[in-house]
Amino acid sequence: MALLEILEYPDPRLRTVARRVEKVDDELRQLAQDMIETMYEAPGIGLAASQINVHRRLIVVDVSEEQNEPHILVNPEYEVTGALMEYQEGCLSVPGYYEKVTRFDKIQVSALNEQGEALAFEATDLLAICIQHEIDHLDGKLFVDYLSSLKRTRIKKKLEKQHKLEQ
Ligand code: NI
Repeated sequence: MALLEILEYPDPRLRTVARRVEKVDDELRQLAQDMIETMYEAPGIGLAASQINVHRRLIVVDVSEEQNEPHILVNPEYEVTGALMEYQEGCLSVPGYYEKVTRFDKIQVSALNEQGEALAFEATDLLAICIQHEIDHLDGKLFVDYLSSLKRTRIKKKLEKQHKLEQ
């Protein structure tokens, strides 16, 4: 197990579109376990491989309070089955900022699990929001993209300043 470094906005590598996973093997399973550990440690409720600079379509999510219901989703996709809702979102790649984003409250998810088997399930509320947020990462998209350019620029400048101080 290993903790992985999480890229932070506005790192341009977060804009990379991830490619599909062709083969679910031990290397991918190990990567998913390391991502789960990194997510729990942060702590967060979701992590996309893009955020640790691995541009493959793999996400991990766990919205349980006890951090004991991890989902590993390979090549995840969804269809909207619900209505729009607003939720205050954060992101491990945008630390310290929380803003309201509009997403769907119910989606039908399809993906492969860590054994490479096809999964299909309905996700609602926080789990649905989290999966939409993480799939956005795989497409190089961040929650700040849904905000006004004024807000986004403000967050970008503050984080850039903070990254300079940390160097
Ligand atoms: Ni995120």
